[in-house]
This record gives sequence, C-alpha cells and structure tokens, in this order.
Amino acid sequence: MRVTSTPVVREDGKLIKVVQKRGQLFICAHGCCCGKTERGFAPVPEDLYHQEWERRKLRNKVHLTFSACLGPCSLANVALLIFDGTSTWFHSLNTHEQILALYEYIEARLLGDVPLPKDLQECIFDGFAPVEGDRSSLLPVE
Ligand code: FES
Repeated sequence: MRVTSTPVVREDGKLIKVVQKRGQLFICAHGCCCGKTERGFAPVPEDLYHQEWERRKLRNKVHLTFSACLGPCSLANVALLIFDGTSTWFHSLNTHEQILALYEYIEARLLGDVPLPKDLQECIFDGFAPVEGDRSSLLPVE
C-alpha cells in the first residue's frame, strides 16, 4: 500500500509532510479504571498491543495511541478505533484473544470492507452522539 502525505505549514513556516493514515487506535491505559487491577479491572497489556502493532507493520497505516481516560470509565477496558473516518468504540477488551481479533479486524479492513467479527460485536457501543446535518462545512476548502 502506498503511503500518502499532506503538506502542512507549521507556525514557524517550516513545511511538514504529515503521513496520512487510514486510522488511529486509542487504547485507554492510563485512566482511573481501564487496566487498574487494584480496582478489579482486567489489565491492559500495552506490550501486546504494541508488539502486535509492530509485528503487523501498521505504523504508517493505523496509528496506535495509549491514552488517559477516554470517557466511559465504567466500561473498562475501553478502546476507540477511528478508521476511514468512522469511529468504533469497544468496551471490556479484557483478553489477549480479543486484542488479537481486533488487530485481525484492522488488517482485514485495510484490505477491504469486512464486518466486525462476532466476538468483537459484543464489545461495541456508541460513544458519540449521532451526527445530525451536513458536517462537510467543517472540511477545509481545496
Ligand atoms: S479510565 Fe478508561 S475510559 Fe476512563
């Protein structure tokens, strides 16, 4: 897959080529609940997330971010996948098998439009309010 970039002029005038990725995977790992075993939640295996991301060579395709709280703490462990402009929220990502399934889904999405595996369908929820109206005016004019 070809890597594309977009030129952005930084405030100091320097031209920066920003790699355009298909998506970004946010893993809540440093909040009040996700991964906090002392509070009764399952651990967040950051090493596994990172190793799989590297092993699958996703760096220039889907960015991986370990974050602080994403909001819906009581649903720990929470992740947010933004892919091709759409968002998918996950809760209760507590097992290595689920994490591997998530990466397999991301890899499959890079190749085409595929449905979410059944095991992960049980973990999704709507974390954002529905979009109303035309939001195209938010996009820059070319
Ligand atoms: S601590 Fe994970 S969503 Fe708040």
